Amino acid sequence: MRFCRTRRSDSTLFPRKKVSVIGAGHVGATVAFLTAQKELADVVLVDVVPGVPQGKALDMYEASPIQGYDVAFHGSNDYKDTANSDLVIVTAGVARKPGMSRDDLLSTNVKIVAEVVREVVRHSPDCILLVVTNPLDAMVYTAKQVSGFPRERVIGMAGVLDSARMRSFIAEALDVSIEDVSAFVLGGHGDTMVPMVRYATVAGIPVSDMLPPERLQEIVQRTAQGGAEIVQLLKTGSAFYAPGAAVVEMAEAILKDKKRILPCAAYLEGEYGVDGYFMGVPCKLGGAGMECVIELDLTTEEQAALERSLDSVRRLVRQVDALEHF
Ligand code: APR
Repeated sequence: MRFCRTRRSDSTLFPRKKVSVIGAGHVGATVAFLTAQKELADVVLVDVVPGVPQGKALDMYEASPIQGYDVAFHGSNDYKDTANSDLVIVTAGVARKPGMSRDDLLSTNVKIVAEVVREVVRHSPDCILLVVTNPLDAMVYTAKQVSGFPRERVIGMAGVLDSARMRSFIAEALDVSIEDVSAFVLGGHGDTMVPMVRYATVAGIPVSDMLPPERLQEIVQRTAQGGAEIVQLLKTGSAFYAPGAAVVEMAEAILKDKKRILPCAAYLEGEYGVDGYFMGVPCKLGGAGMECVIELDLTTEEQAALERSLDSVRRLVRQVDALEHF
């Protein structure tokens, strides 16, 4: 019998998308696995530690007969294997331990992210960069400076995760399906984030009509501390399932050109009165990346909260600029 001779890796015959995930740790591996589960793209997993990306990629490939996904995996310590990626997800860096804030990671992770982005851009000059490493607002700024990419192609993941946490807490408080809960969070990815209670709904009904203000305030607080709550429990690292799922929701919107409206860390050029910084705002995510920023009319209180958040982002960015890694 003669079977067809084409190889699945022949990209001219099978123009499957290519996603590279840099950092094969908790978040990176979760992203790779979920990307495969959804058959979004072939996945290249890169890490600085020899054997780790290779081992995890092989392990995920060996799960494919059971899970039923047709995706090629490649684990590597060499950036040339990331060449011509459509989307590169940066998770490389160190994670938080109890007692540390995201900002404590800054100097170590700036160096790592700058080095990673330089390599990525050399091999995939047309890719979209999706940055996950913390402190997010500073790392995505580093990625933009180092890559020189237009703002459409440098995006940070934070708002989808923070919003998912807020949605989970609302669904739990009201004992309703998570599917019907909609909410989003603006601002930086830190204690000063701005959960937008005014826009939180259950099947279109404002949550403020369903929960008393004190309960809503508790939810806002727990959302802002959501990452720290997990760090306290895990003790050896930070969250990765919800962050991984948040990244893959954004990746899907980009790879399938879905034009979803999702809160992303986007480089603002005058929107919300902010110029030259990344902030969490609602964006349209599609094939071109961050296709537009949606500007909401904020109340005086919301605008003041956003200003406070911007102050902490500015402080982080000043620290990055002082490190001179570009
Ligand atoms: N190049 C490539 N990979 C690197 C580099 C580098 N220069 N430096 C570190 N790494 C890898 C590590 O070897 C490790 O496998 O990054 C991975 C990080 O994985 P974890 O330590 O498990 O951290 P994780 O929980 O995945 O978090 C990664 O995402 O959510 C953020 O705050 C979190 O900044 C942290 C990042």
